[in-house]
Amino acid sequence: METKQRRIRLNSALRDLASSESLNYKKLIQPLFIVEGLKGRETMEALPGVFRDTEESVFKQVESDLKSGVTHFILFLVPELKSNTEIPKSFYERSISSLKKKFPESFLWIDTCMCSLTTHGHCGLLHSDGNIDNPSSVKHLSKIALIYAQSGADGIAPSDMMDGRVASHRSILDTNGFSKIPILSYSTKFKSNFYGPFRAAADSAPAHGDRSSYQIDVRNREDSILSSIRDKEEGADFLMVKPGMTSIDLIGPIRERTGLPTGAYQVSGEYASIHYLAQSGFCDFDAAIREAWQVFSRASASYLITYAARRGKEILG
Ligand code: PBG
Repeated sequence: METKQRRIRLNSALRDLASSESLNYKKLIQPLFIVEGLKGRETMEALPGVFRDTEESVFKQVESDLKSGVTHFILFLVPELKSNTEIPKSFYERSISSLKKKFPESFLWIDTCMCSLTTHGHCGLLHSDGNIDNPSSVKHLSKIALIYAQSGADGIAPSDMMDGRVASHRSILDTNGFSKIPILSYSTKFKSNFYGPFRAAADSAPAHGDRSSYQIDVRNREDSILSSIRDKEEGADFLMVKPGMTSIDLIGPIRERTGLPTGAYQVSGEYASIHYLAQSGFCDFDAAIREAWQVFSRASASYLITYAARRGKEILG
């Protein structure tokens, strides 16, 4: 891991994300949903201003986002066919390489998980008894991460919460000539009630059971911090807490304990809550989003994944 510290210095987009400055629009990451086989782009009632894009409609979106000052994107790739064995390689390759070719100035993080892919909607593969098969899951996920890298991804963002996935991704990337690609780990990710609108967007709700055997229990502070420390030890370059607002107390401690840039994900349920409050006339949407961002900044978040990134300049004023 000799290039470890340099991996976050390699270009201005990464330096902006990793800097110790307070939050500004350069530290906002915009999620994008690309849905294979979709006939036309879809709006979402709970997430105004966010879309399920087709492989074509996403180009216009990214073009306009870049004009609005967005540099960082996180892609959620939703394949048409579910499978627990096949990787939708050509869809992944097409989506990433075409965007990267058209917009080389964009920085594309790719969410690396399996919940949009598996037939059961869990983030890993299952044994026949329904329990998670951790080793096979990590192997499969690392194959996916390598395909992302080979397709032109700028960064890998594992969100599955399997044990050992960061080390495994780092190793497969390094041995295939991708030692410069950073890993932004969903390192402290809780099992949460605030992911609902996302799961509708990414078609990724678990068909049975829940994610409590792999996502962190909100009552467990030690596990929350240890999970991020573990990911640092496995080679993560950026850490993250999620959901952002309900993890606000952990950002500072994780950043201090690890010394790594630590961000937060203002998740779909947080964004939707503000939207529904505003829709009922109880708050001003932009002002409430700004307030939440100011709190993330106060809590020393190094960066933010937020559905409102594309309006970041406007909202921050
Ligand atoms: C995939 C993933 C999820 C989110 C990001 N990546 C859903 C989940 O863990 O169930 C949630 C993001 C959001 O709610 O905005 N594992």
